[in-house]
Amino acid sequence: MTKVLSFINLKGGVAKTTTAVMLADTLAILGQKRVLVLDLDPQTNATLALIGEERWMQADDAGQTLAQLFLDQVNGTAIFDPARAVIRGASNLNLIRHELIDQLPDDVQYGRVDLLPSSIRLIDVQDRMQDISTRSHYAVSPMEVVRKFIAPLFTAYDYVLIDCPPNLGFVTLNGLEVSDHYLIPTIPDRMSTYGVPQIVNRVADVKAKRNLKISCLGVIITKYQSNSSTQKRGLERLPTDLETAFAPHGEPTPPILKTRLPQTNALAEAVIYERKVANYREKYGTGQVGGQAAYKYGPDLADELEELLSFHDLQGSLDEHVLHATHR
Ligand SMILES: Nc1ncnc2c1ncn2[C@@H]1O[C@H](COP(=O)(O)OP(=O)(O)O)[C@@H](O)[C@H]1O
Ligand SMILES: [Mg+2]
Repeated sequence: MTKVLSFINLKGGVAKTTTAVMLADTLAILGQKRVLVLDLDPQTNATLALIGEERWMQADDAGQTLAQLFLDQVNGTAIFDPARAVIRGASNLNLIRHELIDQLPDDVQYGRVDLLPSSIRLIDVQDRMQDISTRSHYAVSPMEVVRKFIAPLFTAYDYVLIDCPPNLGFVTLNGLEVSDHYLIPTIPDRMSTYGVPQIVNRVADVKAKRNLKISCLGVIITKYQSNSSTQKRGLERLPTDLETAFAPHGEPTPPILKTRLPQTNALAEAVIYERKVANYREKYGTGQVGGQAAYKYGPDLADELEELLSFHDLQGSLDEHVLHATHR
């Protein structure tokens, strides 16, 4: 079953994109999973990290970005073509040239990162989507654009990772609409965790209104500095802050993942597409940080996430079992 995960925080610069891209590489290249990244952020950082500027410009010129998908709804055009827009074999770790991937028969599957790119033009979309929601004759609800046009592609993947902008506008809500879970990457300081209750409240609100299945899978500590007293205090306070945010919605407090991504240039530079790297280890760094090689944090994080996901699956089937048993 495809797992769809959104990365959200109202704060920019907390490593949402870096974490999403690293996980995409980890799951695909090390885990041999089929991964699709949806870049919903007008900053296009995940797009640039996965395909570089040249291929991004080609996609943008051809109108094959998620911005165009939204613009099509506003303008009544149909320029965006989901099948054409998916960039197969993104990431500089992909081993097969993309011209060749497009010629592979559908039954040839291998672990790789595919991308639906973003565009800076998504900024305009946000305002204009507001217009279509007040018009009576729009064809697709503004909340359901991704669900209608993109979600049908998901079945071909093990994981869909959605990189969200640091706000809870229409575009982000489109991502939540199709997500099984969301993850909150955060630096463990006051500035970065400040918006967490707002995220939780807003997600709970749309979840109830639109009858969604989404839940918080966990909080990922990023840019961790073990010698920082500010971060130490932030970490101590975080479990209570989370409980305070989730309890009013009757939701369990999500776990803070044990893997803390350390503050290190190795991880920051890893997602620069233009760097020539031979393999995963070289890309994510062999230098020691926080007691282990930098490249080991990705697999640690991926293992934890897979464990959490299978726990959720187990819980889901147990709930169903209980439901059936009580109705018998
Ligand atoms: N573990 C890390 N250590 C040091 N710098 C990092 C780390 N992770 C990300 N960065 C840097 O922090 C900045 C913000 O990261 P980014 O992933 O773009 O955040 P967001 O998507 O939340 O805005 C970028 O310059 C990135 O290179
Ligand atoms: Mg980002």
